[in-house]
Amino acid sequence: MEKEKRSSFSGRVGFVLAAAGSAVGLGNIWRFPYLAAKYGGGIFLLVYIVLAVTFGFALMVAEIAIGRKTGKSAIEAYGMLNKKFSFLGWLSSVVPMIILPYYCVIGGWVIKYLVTFATGEGPAAAGDSYFSGFIGQTGQPVLWLTVYIAITAVIVMLGVEKGIEKASRFMMPVLVILSIVIAVYCVCMPGALEGVKYYLMPDFSKFSVTTVLAALGQLFYSMSLAMGIMITYGSYMKKDVDLEKSVHQIEIFDTGFALLAGLMIVPSVFVFSGGDESQLQAGAGLMFQMLPKVFNTMWMGGVVGAVFFLLVLFAALTSSISLMETVVSILQDKLHWNRKVTCLVVAVGSLAIGIPSSLGYGVWSGVQILGLSILDFFDFISNSVLMPIVAFLTCIFVGYFVKTKVICDEVKLSSPFHGEKLFVVIIKYVAPICIVAILVSSVLNGLGIVVI
Ligand code: TRP
Repeated sequence: MEKEKRSSFSGRVGFVLAAAGSAVGLGNIWRFPYLAAKYGGGIFLLVYIVLAVTFGFALMVAEIAIGRKTGKSAIEAYGMLNKKFSFLGWLSSVVPMIILPYYCVIGGWVIKYLVTFATGEGPAAAGDSYFSGFIGQTGQPVLWLTVYIAITAVIVMLGVEKGIEKASRFMMPVLVILSIVIAVYCVCMPGALEGVKYYLMPDFSKFSVTTVLAALGQLFYSMSLAMGIMITYGSYMKKDVDLEKSVHQIEIFDTGFALLAGLMIVPSVFVFSGGDESQLQAGAGLMFQMLPKVFNTMWMGGVVGAVFFLLVLFAALTSSISLMETVVSILQDKLHWNRKVTCLVVAVGSLAIGIPSSLGYGVWSGVQILGLSILDFFDFISNSVLMPIVAFLTCIFVGYFVKTKVICDEVKLSSPFHGEKLFVVIIKYVAPICIVAILVSSVLNGLGIVVI
């Protein structure tokens, strides 16, 4: 990946923008709201925020510091600090390979909705069975998946990511502003108050270990943690950039945006479902079912919808480009293939794995793995199994092999480390114990032995 001298980000702002650009994507807009709806609203939000300021903070500091210290991407960084942990670089590299194909399936849905709104068909999309009608087909979702992968692959192949990044520097703030407007509109709809309460007020009776596991997986996914990405970003960070402050800013931005997305989508369920709360369990399709209904009641809703889905497409593309880029450079480094060929192989591979995920909502809906649809299964394996394992091993690695002092010294190169004590306690004790407890009890729950 880094043949010549490593180029670096110009300063803190450059670093934060780049890392936040990778972090903000479908995870915030599509995944967070449907999980919040499904796992009890306010209680999910509370658990998520607590995890973000503790686990999320500690893990992001650790990953960025490892990257900055070694100047390497994950595959080499772990092994460089301790030979025994080379395997962790490999394990974390598997995660983006699993995520990329199904990320593109959802990206395809976004293009479909963009085209629908852009061609004035928005009102049709507000119909109750529009989403299921679309997703149940074979050709359409696969077509849009192919288009989405092709766009991503062409950008990576031509190496024009920089252009997209520049465009998204303008698009992202517009997306934030538009989302605020839509969220305010949603909250003010008649009947929305009930939903706002559900979303913001924790109901402790809905607490369960599954909620914690879901929130933990979402945290890793949304902040691009436990998959080596932040190590790579850290390797491009200059030694004088305030690492701790950067982490806080990325976290605030990423979490803030997820909260906003939830505010657009969760209360809408209460407005449009006419008291039928089972809609909260809709899962992966929730955003696509709810937002067209919102736009349909809005003045100029068709235009708002088209602009919104276009902006979401950009946010998704910056993430899938970075995902594909990661997979391509891992393969390239190890197999020494030519870049274009590698891109092509990754694109075709993603299509091959993406198609079953897409069909799992249609003709293959009978295929269930561990009781999950194919897409949900890939999502579960990466977010609820592999990422917690990588996170656990990273904590052990940092806490007991590299030693926290080495990481803290790296952070202190640029500025005092205010959260040092918190960092050390979480990495050495709290996070490893909690992650194991969460994983074990959720496996037991899965086997029908209810723990919490
Ligand atoms: N964090 C991204 C999002 O919220 C998704 C993502 C996961 C990602 N892993 C990544 C993006 C790796 C870029 C690189 O949508």
